[in-house]
Amino acid sequence: MAFPTTRLRRLRTTPVLRNLVRETVLTRDDLIMPLFVCPGTNVRNPIKSMPGNYQLSVDQLVEECKRLYGIGIQAILLFGIPEHKDETGLVACEHNGIVQQATRALKKAVPDLYIIADICNCEYTTHGHCGTVVDGDVANDLTLVTLAKQCVSLANEGIDMVAPSDMMDGRVGAIRQELDKNGFHNLPIMAYSAKYASAFYGPFRDAAESAPQFGDRQTYQMDPANANEALREVALDIEEGADIVMVKPALSYLDVIQRVKTNFNMPIAAYNVSGEFSMVKAAAANGWIDEKRIVREILTSIKRAGSDIIITYHSQDIVKDL
Ligand code: PBG
Repeated sequence: MAFPTTRLRRLRTTPVLRNLVRETVLTRDDLIMPLFVCPGTNVRNPIKSMPGNYQLSVDQLVEECKRLYGIGIQAILLFGIPEHKDETGLVACEHNGIVQQATRALKKAVPDLYIIADICNCEYTTHGHCGTVVDGDVANDLTLVTLAKQCVSLANEGIDMVAPSDMMDGRVGAIRQELDKNGFHNLPIMAYSAKYASAFYGPFRDAAESAPQFGDRQTYQMDPANANEALREVALDIEEGADIVMVKPALSYLDVIQRVKTNFNMPIAAYNVSGEFSMVKAAAANGWIDEKRIVREILTSIKRAGSDIIITYHSQDIVKDL
């Protein structure tokens, strides 16, 4: 009988050995925590489908960010829920807009926290679409103007990075041009490059109150069936000046993350989105899975696939164990 000479089990025998040969190690430096800011004072509205997440008024956001920074969260991604919405989302560009207020308060209270702003019109438009609607569909080039304006407005308040999530063609270029024209050459752009029209965003749309009032987002977000097209999206964003490219959602798109990784020498972010988070929370609440182990496994897999940065609502839970 021939016995194996190569025994892969040999390196699995003790915890120390397993630590020594581990290929992917998650660290707190990888994480970005998304947060939702809303009008008012002393508001802390639990988001039902996303346990542990809240719509926070600026004062509460500041408290939450102090706590998060204290446990090791270094970067957040901010979403705004405005007091009023309008047809074209221009409320997102006002000096007293909700994210502008939040940025000013946070820069004062937690100056070392890195603040990234999600750039999109959907939270700010009455119809809930990601841009200016003309004849029942989002008009691409008109939307570029409002997006670039939103970026400059937030740059003026001291935002650290902008992350356009709208999926209009040419938005990275338009934003880069407008930022540079206003002296913000050093403000990085993290582009939601391969963003799919996904059912995994369901809980987020409740959190951000941004569900489209008619139709869906399939004329601008990508078809989940396509991966070659993702590479074209990424290539265009790089050409237009993106500093970081993103794949979103993460878990069902690990193949896309890996293909972006092997095709481009770029920092990659992956967004572990609301639906992915809520599925884990719901199963854990029923006692069907071990939440801690599952979360570590999921986030490690996203990193193993090639992502340098992970945007995840699990950040606040896992950071304590990293
Ligand atoms: C805004 C935006 C969305 C998400 C991030 N930015 C929603 C959407 O496109 O409908 C989803 C985030 C999540 O599900 O956690 N366009």
